Amino acid sequence: MTDNTQKGSAPLLSVDGLSVEYRSKGRSLPAISDVSFELKAGEAIALVGESGSGKTTTAMAIAGLLPPNAAVSAGTVRYRGERLPIDDDAAMRPHRWSETSVVFQGAMNALNPMHRVVWQIAEPCMLKLGLSRDKARAKAMELLELVGIPADRGAAYPHQLSGGMRQRVMIAMALACNPSIVIGDEPTTALDVITQAQILKLLGELRARLNLGLVLITHDLSVVAETCDRVMIMYAGRIVEEGRVVDIFAAPRHPYTRLLIASIADPASGNRTIQSIPGDPPNLQTRPSGCAFHPRCPSAMGICSAAIPDFERIEQGCVACHLYSHVQPLEKVSAHA
Ligand SMILES: Nc1ncnc2c1ncn2[C@@H]1O[C@H](COP(=O)(O)OP(=O)(O)OP(=O)(O)O)[C@@H](O)[C@H]1O
Ligand code: SF4
Ligand SMILES: [Mg+2]
Repeated sequence: MTDNTQKGSAPLLSVDGLSVEYRSKGRSLPAISDVSFELKAGEAIALVGESGSGKTTTAMAIAGLLPPNAAVSAGTVRYRGERLPIDDDAAMRPHRWSETSVVFQGAMNALNPMHRVVWQIAEPCMLKLGLSRDKARAKAMELLELVGIPADRGAAYPHQLSGGMRQRVMIAMALACNPSIVIGDEPTTALDVITQAQILKLLGELRARLNLGLVLITHDLSVVAETCDRVMIMYAGRIVEEGRVVDIFAAPRHPYTRLLIASIADPASGNRTIQSIPGDPPNLQTRPSGCAFHPRCPSAMGICSAAIPDFERIEQGCVACHLYSHVQPLEKVSAHA
């Protein structure tokens, strides 16, 4: 197989063994460890987990936007088969926003209050794409229409738009440099329920229309069911379960996933967020040994505090839990067939 063939068949995004540490008070502490997944064009994958599990760190690392006190300690990120220099700020500059862009949580409040929104969208078109002022303005107006805002509303200042419209502007900005991947980091958290649904619908329509790969970060599993093809469950910096949304909702394997799904099992209660899991998620300083979920896990065994379970493929997905260590992994089964 030639290099070109390999690139042609490569996934849009391929994350392999990604680990990131934060330096704080003279210590380096792992925030995410051994994160691996692939994303195809037009596919939507959710990244779900409690606060502090490492979702934003994963997004920032992939997009080359880690803060200065973070370091990539292991792993690779490939875009269409090509390795990205995610740990080199200057080398990453040409890739940033043009391949992967991020819509941040509450970012709509970060719009510049002094500038008309059309120019806030036009600016990256001038800076990154080298468009003239007129062409950048025309592109910004097209992007506004694409996200469901009449182009003439581009003359508005941010305070003249509703929260939902400001978040649509942020999505237009994220699309300004024609990325193939959009990461939505809790893009609807600050919005009311009806506007949340509209923004998620918009992201779904844009995904289909532009064949975008979408990574949707959320606390809210009910959002995942409506929006995504696959889901990754993250706990204390590691992916602990991954699979198709339909499979994971029908038969969650990991005890943490089971508790998450049980916590939204009764829609009549109006409970749409992660709740009712005993204990608190660990922070960077207090991550437990072995399987980090063991202090909260109803199925914990002796080995759980001693050894980190491997992330293994079983049946329709992957899981990291000692409950499944006796199961012959499918990859090994097929390798010996
Ligand atoms: N700049 C930083 N310096 C030091 N520690 C950090 C930094 N940013 C995040 N952390 C820590 O890294 C861990 C992962 O944080 P991250 O923001 O990725 O989690 P998250 O899953 O996105 O959480 P949330 O749902 O609250 O947004 C947390 O323990 C957090 O306190
Ligand atoms: S490895 Fe052990 S503690 Fe961790 S989720 Fe599985 S059973 Fe629970
Ligand atoms: Mg976050």
